[in-house]
Amino acid sequence: MIYSLMDVTQQASPPLTDALESLRADAQKAISEIKDGDAEQQSAQLETIRVEFLGRKEGRLTAIMKSLKDLPPAEKAAIGALANTIREDLERDLNARRDALKLSILNQKLASEAIDVTMPGTARVVGGVHPLTRVTLEIQAIFAGMGFQTLDDDVCPELETDYYNFDALNFPPDHPARDMQDTYYTDLGSNVLLRSQTSNAQIRHMEKQKPPVRIISPGRVYRNEEINSRKFVLFHQMEGLLVDEGIRFSDLKGILREFVTQFFNGERPTRFRSSFFPFTEPSAEMDVQCILCSGKGCSTCGHSGWLEIMGAGMVDPNVLTNGNIDPEHYTGFAFGMGIERLAMLKYAINDIRLFFDNDLRFLTQFERL
Ligand code: PHE
Repeated sequence: MIYSLMDVTQQASPPLTDALESLRADAQKAISEIKDGDAEQQSAQLETIRVEFLGRKEGRLTAIMKSLKDLPPAEKAAIGALANTIREDLERDLNARRDALKLSILNQKLASEAIDVTMPGTARVVGGVHPLTRVTLEIQAIFAGMGFQTLDDDVCPELETDYYNFDALNFPPDHPARDMQDTYYTDLGSNVLLRSQTSNAQIRHMEKQKPPVRIISPGRVYRNEEINSRKFVLFHQMEGLLVDEGIRFSDLKGILREFVTQFFNGERPTRFRSSFFPFTEPSAEMDVQCILCSGKGCSTCGHSGWLEIMGAGMVDPNVLTNGNIDPEHYTGFAFGMGIERLAMLKYAINDIRLFFDNDLRFLTQFERL
């Protein structure tokens, strides 16, 4: 015999039908009473309801089904069909509620992670090259173009012995020329000092390299100066040394004039004044016509119209000998310039301390040059 659902329900035992209907009503009420809010709590509540009503072992529906076994077959089928319908309905309700929950979790996540692509970006601070580094690299590039090699930092130490800083450079012991540069001595030994000039590079390099020699050597030097807008206890120099057969003063002048032309972006009047350094003979100071007033006279050039930019001269034969080079066979020239001074002239900077203050208002002006 085949029954329609209506038929079987009508034929079913009324107490069991009631029990099933109230089970359905209880479950639906429980589902509808779940409060919005914490997602984890909601999903735990859904699971509790599922277990309470539909759980296979101890669920209320299972309990009713177990009591069917003594009923006549026709009733059993009718109640069974109703129970199945209720199970399916409740599973659908639970799933619908679970899907709604998932969707609301997803929406919340999307909202909290939303990116407004039209918002202006956060600019990153990008560091720039320090003006001293910039000028050093520029000087190196100019001399590289004339065949000069830049010595690596480690060839010439800043913590130096007085032999390389003075003796080998032809400073006689107790000679007043040592006082030209107020030197910092250390307590590492009476002969250990902070180099006062990059000229130690001359000896250090000649000891290793036979002519032809054509090098520049940038680095830090230290002098016990009273600090003011033009002097600081630490600054940078660029040393140059060229040794070969038949080198004359005119070679020195030619190379240094070419350097000035390239560094200051155009030919400028220069002059060489006679001077004194223990390690060069003859010695000279090189002046360039004042960049700021073009020779008319201003406060930067002390109203002379000229700016001193470096010391230079023909390498003294004693210095070549100390570098194990035969002065009968070779001659050479050397020069030394202050990097801060050149940078100050090129960029019209009026205080040397600006290079060491690390004030971004100063430094960022050089980022885009
Ligand atoms: N070392 C010298 C100074 O510091 C500069 C210099 C270098 C002069 C090389 C002549 C040759 O004043």
